[in-house]
Amino acid sequence: MMRKRAANAARSIEECGSHSVTMRSGMIENGVATELMLIREKEIAVPTDGQVSSKLPSRRSKNEFYRYYAGYPLEFAEWALKAMSIRPGGTVVDPWNGSGTTAAACARIGLSCKGYDIYPVMVHLGRSRVASPVDFAEAEELIGAVVELFPRNKTLDLTAVGSAYREIPVTNESAHSVAISALFPYVRKLLDVSRTKNPSWFKKGATVDGLNLDKDAFVSDWRSLLGELSRWRNTGDDVEGVIISIDRGDSRKSLGHKDAFDGVLTSPPYLTRLDYVQATLPELLALNKFEPVPNFKRLRRSMLGSPLTSERPVQSTERLPAKVKTLLDQIARHPSKASDAYYHRFFAKYFVDLQASLRSLTRVLKDGGSGCIVVQSSNYKEIEIDLAAVVISLAEPYGLRHQSTIAFQSRRSMSSVNSRAHEDARKPKGESALFFRKG
Ligand SMILES: C[S@@+](CC[C@H](N)C(=O)[O-])C[C@H]1O[C@@H](n2cnc3c(N)ncnc32)[C@H](O)[C@@H]1O
Repeated sequence: MMRKRAANAARSIEECGSHSVTMRSGMIENGVATELMLIREKEIAVPTDGQVSSKLPSRRSKNEFYRYYAGYPLEFAEWALKAMSIRPGGTVVDPWNGSGTTAAACARIGLSCKGYDIYPVMVHLGRSRVASPVDFAEAEELIGAVVELFPRNKTLDLTAVGSAYREIPVTNESAHSVAISALFPYVRKLLDVSRTKNPSWFKKGATVDGLNLDKDAFVSDWRSLLGELSRWRNTGDDVEGVIISIDRGDSRKSLGHKDAFDGVLTSPPYLTRLDYVQATLPELLALNKFEPVPNFKRLRRSMLGSPLTSERPVQSTERLPAKVKTLLDQIARHPSKASDAYYHRFFAKYFVDLQASLRSLTRVLKDGGSGCIVVQSSNYKEIEIDLAAVVISLAEPYGLRHQSTIAFQSRRSMSSVNSRAHEDARKPKGESALFFRKG
């Protein structure tokens, strides 16, 4: 998916030589008060070390189109990109694109961006976040074309809608993603997921098959969700020369040509053992009707931080830095149940995957290119997993040198909302924006 914007934001990037960071709650986003941080641009040339107050992106606006558990705020992304002083007209990569906050921020300040995500649901959502008004107009036409295929029906089911949709040639991938993404909240509601607080509510056997939908109500909901989605899109006017492109990709594999990017702004999945696929299964089930999706189990395994483990990464831990190996030993030796059998494997897989990802990320970053990686620390029982230190030590051997850290305190994390989690795991989590330079 590619699209052009004008590079008129060179000015704001040049001006961003100095910044200061202020945090505030009660920000207004889309007319709704949220707890996001507010960042003011003033005075600090390069991000410096320091503790900055207490409200990183714990809770998202209620009226956000897609309530995503793991995103950082758009304001933070804009600030971080400016703080890195990426050259005007430069290109940024985000190997864990998620809901596309990095891409949206790039679009707003006139940088090009290449986003990758392994999870097809997030690829469609990420593309929708940066889609143009033309893409939305074409998505509307797509919906019209699907509906026309059922002139006499009073009811529809998603299988029939999906098959009809597949008949329509894809001429604009972005419009295609927009039309599909608009249905995600619909399906979630249809399966009554919103009533449960547990994001991994899904049990075996849930299906969108055989649900008879009133055609007129369905089409009207689809169109109105498209409207909501367009309000979520928040990237400003199209700017010529700026290319925003989001595709499916695995952070551990090739992320493009060597030295292709001027900067990186990203955040890997955290060590919460949240199963993204499981947590968003309604969306994946719906998507499955519209296009072929990868095998569910294989997809779950390929996600960084997946709770599904395997033996293989344990054999690759030899290449990890000494202090990460020591941490893994500590976990394996912990006396609590399954420490050696399961948790050691879980953490080993995560660190090995993270190492492979940082390697491919450094490869595509230009010499002198800068990066910001946002991570959250966590606990295994009383053992502190300092993810910031782990990332720094994994990145260093590839030539990605740590420059500075901005630390935040996150009031809510997935483990802190889990009443059964270990007491240490429920403490407020430190979140860090780590700034790097290659070479
Ligand atoms: C913490 S989220 C990124 C959030 C993003 N910064 C935002 O603001 O929306 C991490 C993302 O990494 C993706 N992911 C997990 N494993 C991956 C892999 N191996 N390759 C690429 N993406 C992966 C997940 O699907 C998820 O969307």
